[in-house]
Amino acid sequence: DWTPDSFIETTIAELKAKLGNDKVVLGLSGGVDSSVAAVLLHQAIGANLHCIFVDNGLLRKDEYQSVLDSYQHMGLNIKGIDAKQRFYDALAGLTDPEKKRKAIGRVFIEVFDDAAHEVQGVSWLGQGTIYPDVIESISVKGPSATIKSHHNVGGLPDFMKLKVVEPLNTLFKDEVRRVGKALGIDPNILGRHPFPGPGLAIRILGDITPEKVDILQQADAIYINNLRSAGVYDSVWQAGAIYLPVQSVGVMGDERTYENVICLRAVESLDGMTADWCHLPYNLLAKISNEIINNVKGINRVVYDISSKPPATIEWE
Ligand code: XMP
Repeated sequence: DWTPDSFIETTIAELKAKLGNDKVVLGLSGGVDSSVAAVLLHQAIGANLHCIFVDNGLLRKDEYQSVLDSYQHMGLNIKGIDAKQRFYDALAGLTDPEKKRKAIGRVFIEVFDDAAHEVQGVSWLGQGTIYPDVIESISVKGPSATIKSHHNVGGLPDFMKLKVVEPLNTLFKDEVRRVGKALGIDPNILGRHPFPGPGLAIRILGDITPEKVDILQQADAIYINNLRSAGVYDSVWQAGAIYLPVQSVGVMGDERTYENVICLRAVESLDGMTADWCHLPYNLLAKISNEIINNVKGINRVVYDISSKPPATIEWE
């Protein structure tokens, strides 16, 4: 019978046999899958696992540092790379969602390839691929699609010529979480809402600037912290704030303001394929709206998205 403990035991033995003294490079995203894959590999081969965590400047507020800290705390051999400016430069002036995704994918591959080159004699690429990713290999979204579109424009980056090791590729998401729990991984990492690879770039409609990212990070942090303190975070499948490229009139004291709008999105879902908007309590929405408008400079209006998928999507881009 499948249990997390038996899975861990056999997988670590298999990884040891397969990898021996070889070196593995693995990109961590802060999400559940890559974290669980990293801890399994770490238990099998220790410091021969070289983890790379890229700050693309599009993560949630303070997420880069706190995730890096918790990975270091877990004893992983991890290198953090601040590549914010490279991503912002590549995104400057882009408004089309697919062009933004492609630019982010391209820069990620460049940054990751540079970092992988620094690991002398590496022969494997570790990945947190899970079973649904395997069967959905023709998915339009996600890192594999990014990598595919990269193929078409140029040669294969060197790290993609490595042999691939995917310790989770027989598991479903809930099994990955159970394995993560049995491995003692921080519940904050295991219970995280899904977060798209292109991050806040697809939650800022239109072009991206560091100023807009800063505003959205502040609003999003207020939103998520309130979901946590109200005890509803775990019953929401995914939530996030969206920066709308719309200005509207407001008043502050005797002054008229003309500032941007933040939209709040929260959905219930099983797998992201269909979703219903969450009926968050009005008093919670009122508190979040007040806090955002009173504290985030540049925002004078907050709206709540009451659309379900289909026909709307979860993200706005
Ligand atoms: P949609 O907006 O299509 O989102 O209803 C469904 C799920 O997919 C996530 N998503 C992405 N994840 N790269 C990703 O890694 C992407 O480009 C991307 N676009 C959407 C979204 O956050 C939701 O969980």
